[in-house]
Amino acid sequence: MTSVEQTQAELSQTELSGSESALDGLPVSGPAVVAHAAGDLRIEEVPLKAPAADEAVVEIAYGGICGSDLHYWMHGAAGESILKDPMVLGHEIVGTVVRAAADGSGPAAGIPVAVHPATPGPGAARYPEDRPNLSPGCTYLGSAARHPHTDGAFSRYATLPARMLRELPAGLPLRTAALVEPASVAWHAVARAGEVAGKTAMVIGSGPIGALVVAVLKRAGAAKITAVDMHDKPLQIARAVGADEVLKGDDAEAIAAVEADVVIESSGSHFGLASAIKGAVRGGKVVMVGLLPSGPQPVLISLAITRELELLGSFRFNDEIDDVIAALADGSLQADAVVTHEYPLDHALEAFDVAKNSAQSGKVLLNFTPAGQA
Ligand SMILES: NC(=O)c1ccc[n+]([C@@H]2O[C@H](COP(=O)([O-])OP(=O)(O)OC[C@H]3O[C@@H](n4cnc5c(N)ncnc54)[C@H](O)[C@@H]3O)[C@@H](O)[C@H]2O)c1
Ligand SMILES: [Zn+2]
Repeated sequence: MTSVEQTQAELSQTELSGSESALDGLPVSGPAVVAHAAGDLRIEEVPLKAPAADEAVVEIAYGGICGSDLHYWMHGAAGESILKDPMVLGHEIVGTVVRAAADGSGPAAGIPVAVHPATPGPGAARYPEDRPNLSPGCTYLGSAARHPHTDGAFSRYATLPARMLRELPAGLPLRTAALVEPASVAWHAVARAGEVAGKTAMVIGSGPIGALVVAVLKRAGAAKITAVDMHDKPLQIARAVGADEVLKGDDAEAIAAVEADVVIESSGSHFGLASAIKGAVRGGKVVMVGLLPSGPQPVLISLAITRELELLGSFRFNDEIDDVIAALADGSLQADAVVTHEYPLDHALEAFDVAKNSAQSGKVLLNFTPAGQA
């Protein structure tokens, strides 16, 4: 059974069991962006799941297209997560609560919210208690890592656990808040490097994640930020959010001469990781947030050993999301320039096409409101 069919079955079951009032006044279905298989992305009507007592219904305003959404569309898989059934994409989402959770948890109807897409898993392997992002079996909205898949929320309405919802402060526009999820990834990556105030920093790969890393480094008081990319457009965006200097990814000599205290690898390629290792100062730190393909990867490991570099992994985020919301709201984190395009839901396929071209676009947003105007 597909996850969409399953939702439908659950919905009919709920209706049969007489609790249709759970959706009273709300549409029973709405348009959503569904990945069916490699190259097969559809905008189709999906049933709205009747909320459990601890779930709220959110009217989605914006959704940011992420690399993993692009991978499911282009390859039918993101890393090890292989699409087995149709799945609603989308985990970078913001909207307004239209039905609060019946058990009283979470925000009330009418409250604008960002969404923390993770659900820590029940797996038995050990992990540090204060780092639930590392919990085995963790699920994420719009992820095929488990089966049945976890549907995302690129849909006009979404039924979501109230614990995922984070109230947005008054005055923080939903469009700015659409960056909360990727900015939390960036915030976590910078935090992995420890104190960065007064230090020199270099960011390899200035796509949406790298550009947000630049913005977070700027806010954290890095003394000098160098951004690196293969293309001009991402470097322009990096400058707009705080890079002091930009370099082309093939300028090996200039990259090695940076000798940055902290390097954040956000290209997701082993070439980028090589630049990161070469450009770090002796004794420096390299944070790896770019997701390299699974399996063995070439790494300049002997250079990392003899220079005593600290190589640090960075995966998703935890409660940093609250700091990001506060920093976007008080204006100390300036990231709007990362968004380059916005499309209404019925142009989602065009939006995905633009989003896959790093030379042309930064973060591409989908607008889910009926008139395309959130
Ligand atoms: N660790 C996590 O939790 C996490 C979360 C989200 C995304 N990611 C990963 O972060 C990476 C960046 O995400 P994104 O959305 O910005 O992707 P993106 O593809 O839009 O950006 C990558 C950028 O790196 C540039 N690049 C490629 N090779 C390079 C090189 N050798 N040197 C310099 N620049 C190079 C590209 O031109 C592009 O602009 C991806 O690998 C993504 O999977 C990781
Ligand atoms: Zn994402």
